[in-house]
Amino acid sequence: MGRIGIYGGTFNPPHTGHMLALREFAEKLQLDRVLLIPDRVPPHKEMPAGSPDAAVRLELCRLAAKEYPFVTVSDLELRREGRSYTVDTVRELEALYPDEERIFLMGTDMFLSFDKWYMPDQIVRHVSLGMANRQAPSEEEKNAILAQKEKLEREMGATVYIVENDLIEISSSAVRLLLRYGAGEEVLPKAVNDEILRLGLYRTGADLRSLPMEKLREESLSLHKPRRVPHVEGCCELAVHLAERWGADPVAAARAALLHDVTKILSGTEQLILCRRYGILLDDFDRQNESLLHAKTGAAVAKHIFGESEEVCEAIRRHTTGKAGMTKLQKILYLADMIEKTRSYPGVEALRQLAEEDLDAAVRSALQRTIAFVQEGGRALHPDSVQAYAYECEQAAEQGSAGK
Ligand SMILES: [Fe+2]
Ligand SMILES: [Fe+2]
Repeated sequence: MGRIGIYGGTFNPPHTGHMLALREFAEKLQLDRVLLIPDRVPPHKEMPAGSPDAAVRLELCRLAAKEYPFVTVSDLELRREGRSYTVDTVRELEALYPDEERIFLMGTDMFLSFDKWYMPDQIVRHVSLGMANRQAPSEEEKNAILAQKEKLEREMGATVYIVENDLIEISSSAVRLLLRYGAGEEVLPKAVNDEILRLGLYRTGADLRSLPMEKLREESLSLHKPRRVPHVEGCCELAVHLAERWGADPVAAARAALLHDVTKILSGTEQLILCRRYGILLDDFDRQNESLLHAKTGAAVAKHIFGESEEVCEAIRRHTTGKAGMTKLQKILYLADMIEKTRSYPGVEALRQLAEEDLDAAVRSALQRTIAFVQEGGRALHPDSVQAYAYECEQAAEQGSAGK
């Protein structure tokens, strides 16, 4: 008896993460082949902007499978009329492949919620279940998986295989964002990436360079998590105000503020993908502090995707750490990020007041506060912040003695 894997999903788009997961399943469960089955998306389910229709997703899956000979794409779900349930699919697959062990493949989240699916006890009569662990699962998750396996076997007579997964997961939403940020080839089979670019899917055809301010605002806000939007808006408002107050360019300040966190939504792994794409060199500090990488990747995206000026990009690059000898614009973005109106921590009011009275004193105070905060938290301090603070103190001392 042969073994066949069944892998369903929206595949919007099918990416390298899917294909490597399938390879892992195929090797560890000794599958002869895998059927990749794009789901029909119910009409009421919202798809992200620029998503292709089912026929195009099917074609993209076929292109992805070309590089993986053990994968066959099936249009079984797409052909079915009316409401579509997994139980119908697995019944159909039993009729098509009666002599093979059929293993329905899934990730941890789907597995842990399997008993809430429609007719799970019927599904397991037609297929075995194969689940891939997340990389390095917590003890709690491991226990939940074992408990679920035992429950499904005992209560429904299911056959369950658990696969230890060494792969780093990447989400389809991150893949779509990386596509828009010009890094599709890093996360997609080549033929899939080429076709997406050829058709301009997922808004890859949109030219975002040198957008007028309102368009830039709209684009930028759509690229952040909703809960981060007030921070970006607050940062923009304050940066413009401080630029006007201290004689910097308010337009550059607004543009830098709108884009300063434009890659913040990406995980550390996804940040590293963008670093590779844009040839951003990383030191040990960067590799150990992935949360700060969004300043460097944000600057690269501002430059290559949004076509922003070097002064805007450099302000973005420096907004988390500062540096020795910051320009006025860089100081303004550094401060605005830290004290815009949604920020709330002891001392923020005093910093806001100081920013109105003396920009340099406010920057010194902000740097000092950051240094103390990082040290108290026992975290590593970026050398650029230390140098920035030393530089600003020296400047102040020089100005002080010159004024005497
Ligand atoms: Fe940031
Ligand atoms: Fe920020």
